[in-house]
Amino acid sequence: MFCNYSTVHVDLGARSYQIEICEDVFSDAAYFSSWSGSFALIVTNEVIAPLYSDRLRKKIENYFGRVIVIILNDGELCKNSKSIEKIYDVLLENGCDRKTVIFALGGGVVGDMAGFAASTYMRGIPFVQVPTTLLAQVDSSVGGKTAINHPLGKNMIGSFYQPQLVICDIGTLDTLPAREISAGLAEVIKYAPIYDAAFMDWLELSMDGLMAKDHLLLAYAVKRCCEIKAEIVGVDERESGLRAILNFGHTFGHAIETGMGYGVWLHGEGVAAGMVMAAELSRRLGMLDAAFVERLKALIQRAGLPIKGPVIDPKDNAGRYLELMRIDKKSEAGEIRFVLIDGPGKAVVRPAPDALVREVIDACCA
Ligand code: NAD
Ligand code: GLY
Repeated sequence: MFCNYSTVHVDLGARSYQIEICEDVFSDAAYFSSWSGSFALIVTNEVIAPLYSDRLRKKIENYFGRVIVIILNDGELCKNSKSIEKIYDVLLENGCDRKTVIFALGGGVVGDMAGFAASTYMRGIPFVQVPTTLLAQVDSSVGGKTAINHPLGKNMIGSFYQPQLVICDIGTLDTLPAREISAGLAEVIKYAPIYDAAFMDWLELSMDGLMAKDHLLLAYAVKRCCEIKAEIVGVDERESGLRAILNFGHTFGHAIETGMGYGVWLHGEGVAAGMVMAAELSRRLGMLDAAFVERLKALIQRAGLPIKGPVIDPKDNAGRYLELMRIDKKSEAGEIRFVLIDGPGKAVVRPAPDALVREVIDACCA
């Protein structure tokens, strides 16, 4: 039965919006009634469409003259310009206008692509995020980063473009495979070391229940993560400073994803191993004690995630990581800048000596 757990407000002046954290939104919720127009386009994929797209279509048909559904191929490998072309084709072939609303129904891959298409079609049309993975509910659907991958680098083509509403239906996580729950938990864990040391305590108490998909625990985790992300994005929407801390573990993680080939390691898995590397780098720089690194590793393991990175080049593994990390968006003039932990709950962004980074990669890959 429908229930609303909580609402988180993202305060961005004219671009402000609500994140609704709820249950069974496709049954009788009224969230969609404020939306109307000639066209709505639901962007989804072949895995999610049979589960949820008819239910969403029926819900919004009451408010739109025409609802079109585009079903993309599944997976990180399809997060590219070809998929974006397909969305543009459908929009243009159907005469969709500037008031067309795009509904992104799916995980981070669908959300990032639908958001990018919405930000560029006719220079920008409204879009609503309906995230159906834990990762998308706690991170990617919020804050307005949209992107596609380039063969040379992860998320290299994109825009900042805020949705007008985010609807996190906790019930949709029931159909999510265990590996994807774990991947989402990587982004959940991320918020503790960078911003909220008390959340680390809560996660340690709640990890078993989260893994078992307890809805109340999941709803609280989604709420707390969205609150933190809303606070950070409210201060620094376009990542000129503070927002970069949300990339804790991502510098190493993106190198893993690109180095292994998109889709081999899940994004959350790369972030998990990357957080261990970044924490270990922080320890070797004298910013973090060994006990906290061990706590973080234990939590990551309990979430079913890897604490070691893969070897992506047997000839010069650390060299390949460094080469890939130089393409990172935080790099400045080829100098890699890492998100490091300066004591529990506090993150800083700064460079580190290549030799030390090599030592960390050697110690943290298997
Ligand atoms: P995903 O979108 O690939 O979804 C994971 C898998 O679960 C897919 O196979 C998907 O089809 C399936 N799925 C989705 N919902 C389901 C459901 N309810 N039941 C059953 N199966 C379901 O992966 P993801 O982890 O959601 O997102 C990862 C992407 O998000 C990466 O591309 C990453 O770069 C991006 N990301 C973006 C941001 C941002 O701020 N924009 C932040 C973090 C990650
Ligand atoms: N996922 C990182 C960010 O939104 O900034």
